[in-house]
This record gives sequence, C-alpha cells and structure tokens, in this order.
Amino acid sequence: MAPENAGRSESNDIGHEHQELRHQLDSLQAALSDVRTDRARAAGLLRGMASGIEQHFQREERPDGLRQLISVAPRLKSRVDVVLAQHAQFRGELADLIAAASSSAGADWRSELAQRFAAFAEQFLAHEHEENALLQEAYHRDMAAED
Ligand SMILES: [Fe+2]
Ligand SMILES: [Fe+2]
Repeated sequence: MAPENAGRSESNDIGHEHQELRHQLDSLQAALSDVRTDRARAAGLLRGMASGIEQHFQREERPDGLRQLISVAPRLKSRVDVVLAQHAQFRGELADLIAAASSSAGADWRSELAQRFAAFAEQFLAHEHEENALLQEAYHRDMAAED
C-alpha cells in the first residue's frame, strides 16, 4: 500500500470511531435521563466513555493520526492544530463530569449532570464534525486530483 493510502486508511478508522463515539454519547445521554440510573452507574458510564474518548484522542494525536492530513494538504495545518489543542480542554471537562457524578449529593444531581453532559456533548460533536470536515477535505478533495 502506498504511504498516502495508508494514511487514508488510518483516517477511515478515525471516521469510524467518530460514528461509534456518537452512538455512545447518545446512549449515555439516554442513561442519564433514565431515573433507574443511580449516581454510581452514571459515574461508571462516564468513566467508560472517558476511557474510549482518551483512546480515540491518542490515536488522533499519533504522527499517523490527524497530523497526517497536513502532509496531504498543508493548508489545513492551522485547523488541525486547533482541533488537537482542544483535546486538553475535553480531557479536563470529562474529569470534571466524573467528579461531579461521584460527588454531587443534591436531589437535582441527575438533571444537573444531564445538562452538563449535554453541553459537553454539543462541544465534543462540533469538534468531531470539524475533524470529519478535515478528513473529507484532505482525502476527497486533495487526493481526488491525484487519483
Ligand atoms: Fe479529536
Ligand atoms: Fe475525533
């Protein structure tokens, strides 16, 4: 496989992970609004999601992850730098969400947590959407010209 095609395959994997993470976010959102979900379960689900997101971030941060797009389409560099820099913020927010699920004692813990999670999910999905746009632009526009 030519190196540029190896990069494209890696990018397909990232795209598939985006789909899977979106489904996981939906499931978690549903679980948080279900009265049968207690705080321990909510915290456990958030930890599982955070671990999946962490693995995804590490894949994107590898040299053959999103930076690969810069070698295919150098004009995308500043946008790739921005999305990679956003990972630190999401890591912090996930840690805060887990801490909130573990410690919040008020009667409204569920709706507070669901609201915070919804705000996180909205920002996270916007981030993933931008990455999908970058993948699309690098491999479908720039490489279409070479095919
Ligand atoms: Fe990312
Ligand atoms: Fe991503």
